[in-house]
Amino acid sequence: MAQFDLIVIGAGPGGYVCAIRAAQLGLKVACVEGRETLGGTCLNVGCIPSKALLHATHMLHETHENFEKMGIIAKPKVDWAKMRAYKDDVIGQNTKGIEFLFKKNKVTWLKGWASIPEAGKVKVGDETHQAKNIVIASGSEAASLPGVEVDEKIVVTSTGALELEKLPKKMVVIGGGVIGLEMGSVYARLGAEVTVIEYLDRLIPGNDGEVAKTFQRILKKQGMEFILGAAVQKTEVKKTKASVTYKLRKDDSEHQMEADCVLLATGRRPFTDGMGLKELGIETTKGGQIQTDKHYATSVKGIYALGDAIAGPMLAHKAEDEGMAVAEILAGQAGHVNYGVIPGVIYTTPEVASVGETEESLKEAGRAYKVGKFSFMGNGRAKAVFQGEGFVKILADKETDRILGAHLIGPMAGDLIHEICVAMEFGAAAEDLARTCHAHPTFSEAVREAALACGDGAIHA
Ligand code: NAI
Repeated sequence: MAQFDLIVIGAGPGGYVCAIRAAQLGLKVACVEGRETLGGTCLNVGCIPSKALLHATHMLHETHENFEKMGIIAKPKVDWAKMRAYKDDVIGQNTKGIEFLFKKNKVTWLKGWASIPEAGKVKVGDETHQAKNIVIASGSEAASLPGVEVDEKIVVTSTGALELEKLPKKMVVIGGGVIGLEMGSVYARLGAEVTVIEYLDRLIPGNDGEVAKTFQRILKKQGMEFILGAAVQKTEVKKTKASVTYKLRKDDSEHQMEADCVLLATGRRPFTDGMGLKELGIETTKGGQIQTDKHYATSVKGIYALGDAIAGPMLAHKAEDEGMAVAEILAGQAGHVNYGVIPGVIYTTPEVASVGETEESLKEAGRAYKVGKFSFMGNGRAKAVFQGEGFVKILADKETDRILGAHLIGPMAGDLIHEICVAMEFGAAAEDLARTCHAHPTFSEAVREAALACGDGAIHA
């Protein structure tokens, strides 16, 4: 029986980061992973492969939309098998990278699926290992929807959507959230007619409403169709086609739509099956999230949990931050995550990024705020690369000028957001950003202009 200071269950971004940081802090660490490769959902069937396909199809989109405008005449042809092979190669490089980091940091990979027979013990296959502390970082899986049976061939989740044998001609996406719009974009750019059916009257709930409207308009221009305020009732597969039945909420009328592929993207739920949590007495919420205190401790001493398996946004980087915090806590340091400054990014073209408060949340809280907004139309660099649509919006406290949140839609928004995150971590005022020299010509000047717009006004507006 091997003995460890810490056994982490799950090698996704939360688990592997926790294991590496704990090892760096001097603990003897093992990480259990049942998949053939490390990296969890994110590296194997989530963030990384979808970004590879988003990149490839963005390039394709550029050839159709903008090449000729720049005097480049090209007629691209898609080799779908090769594009998938490229995506698989990207996955391989990333997952092997984690294996290398485990070796470098002396983290033992216990291959197999873990269960916890009692606190202090982790069973993997026929072997039981001992650990002073256990961290559950088992992640999440696609949530099911009544009436929709997933076969991962015609009716797929995000996992099956990465592995389609044939390019669909017509695709229905259930859910206008992050996965639906990212994967919907991929197939729309590859020539599919994509219709998104969304329950609410808007896309990307939780994000800034103005961004959501602009985003919908731009995606529509790119060829995607939207049916809002519609609840999907069921799907039926006949041979190679599926029919989707939905009801419009405004009048309860029932409608049907046919497709070669249906993507179910109505959220994810914590994955905690098979670990024996109930028998151990670990408390969970109704939604299946493991309950933890502010130090990530579960209701059973010596067992901690983090990432998608606990409360909070289901984001790889939130899990990573929690992984580092738990490792630090277990090593006797003061681990901490600032949940007020966790960015969210949608990797479409244009990208959408947000952090902190929205106008909606500030209004609800009755907090006085001001808005500094700047359109990418006024940004020379954005115009030069045909990405003048979209804007940067900074929300700041009306009296103190402290930055409370930011919402971006435009080129490189997912990277631009981070200077605002850093500013927020330091409790900066919009004026601090406005007085920081930004190189010209960069997209980041739009951030500075939005900060200027919180004060005496933007220059290029
Ligand atoms: P989501 O929560 O972002 O969106 C689900 C959407 O489905 C919502 O808009 C909801 O109103 C709608 N919906 C629910 N039931 C419906 C029904 N019966 N008919 C029609 N619409 C219905 O969930 P999503 O996109 O599946 O993503 C899951 C998680 O993974 C999220 O937490 C997301 O943040 C995360 N993720 C993050 C990524 C990123 O950071 N770029 C990429 C992919 C996933």
